[in-house]
Amino acid sequence: MFIYKSFLPTYIPQAIPYFPCSQAQFPTCTIHRLTFTSHAHQLKTTKPKHGAFQHYTHIHSSLAAHLPSSISFSAGSVLPLAISTASAGLFQKDYLGLPYPTVPSTPVHSTLIVWGGSSSVGSATIQLARAAGLDVVTTCSVHNFDYCKNLGARECVDYSSSDVVAKLIEAVKGKKVAGAYDAITKKGSTEALAEVLEKVDGGKFVACVLEPPKELKGGVGAKFVFGPIIVDNEVAGKVWGEYVGKALDKGTLKPAPDALIVGQGLDKVQEGMMKNKEGLSAKKVVVTL
Ligand SMILES: NC(=O)c1ccc[n+]([C@@H]2O[C@H](COP(=O)([O-])OP(=O)(O)OC[C@H]3O[C@@H](n4cnc5c(N)ncnc54)[C@H](OP(=O)(O)O)[C@@H]3O)[C@@H](O)[C@H]2O)c1
Repeated sequence: MFIYKSFLPTYIPQAIPYFPCSQAQFPTCTIHRLTFTSHAHQLKTTKPKHGAFQHYTHIHSSLAAHLPSSISFSAGSVLPLAISTASAGLFQKDYLGLPYPTVPSTPVHSTLIVWGGSSSVGSATIQLARAAGLDVVTTCSVHNFDYCKNLGARECVDYSSSDVVAKLIEAVKGKKVAGAYDAITKKGSTEALAEVLEKVDGGKFVACVLEPPKELKGGVGAKFVFGPIIVDNEVAGKVWGEYVGKALDKGTLKPAPDALIVGQGLDKVQEGMMKNKEGLSAKKVVVTL
């Protein structure tokens, strides 16, 4: 599909309004203005045409979903990279291999532990796991407990507390655990998750957003997830094609975290990068164009 875009707000990833039609048809076809949120996957293809920070971007049709008019482009732009990254770890068969998310969800009586639920990737992970029917326990700072619970986490544990491992074990007591998603993969997070999984009933695997330590305790496995890879398998269609648009329409998938708009135009990108580097709490930097 050739995508003609009227404008592109945002930071990577992006929410875009576009006119779909074939290149040949373009001068004469009837144009319906549709709005989509989509993952611009230049990180995988390395082709500039698939990148953000430009007014016209080629997107892959299986990495796009309809954005309801009730959601602004800036708000919608916080979702795509996080959705793909969460999905790569949650649904690929050689990762956690969870059932696909649906609207409404079907309970599967299994618990997922998410490290870093208030991060952008963690927020999408909580929402997708809930839509896949799982119960979710997460770590975050105390001031984000309500935020993560609003996204669907049953229980939150402060990752800075010295007994975080014991508290996570307590939080999943009596539950069957599907495994863990490490949306941080820093400062001992994967090792802590391995310690929990070693001691509880269930899956012994951690999906990690960065390269995990080579060896973990208790035979627990861990693997790096690469978000854009889902375009190569059925996960993109199952999540982006069958779930995201419907869930946004029904309001069961929320744009989270909130967009922190640093300004408009390419000259604001550096400012956005610096803001991101300073460290954010349940916010996603957005530059509008
Ligand atoms: N592999 C891939 O395809 C891929 C794709 C996208 C991102 N990433 C990587 O994933 C990581 C997360 O990206 P993001 O954009 O989701 O991050 P982000 O939203 O910028 O992360 C900020 C959040 O991280 C939380 N946090 C910081 N340190 C933590 C810790 N030690 N334990 C638990 N939570 C902690 C903070 O929680 P509190 O405020 O509650 O303290 C804050 O809300 C980055 O390293 C990024 O490079 C990888």
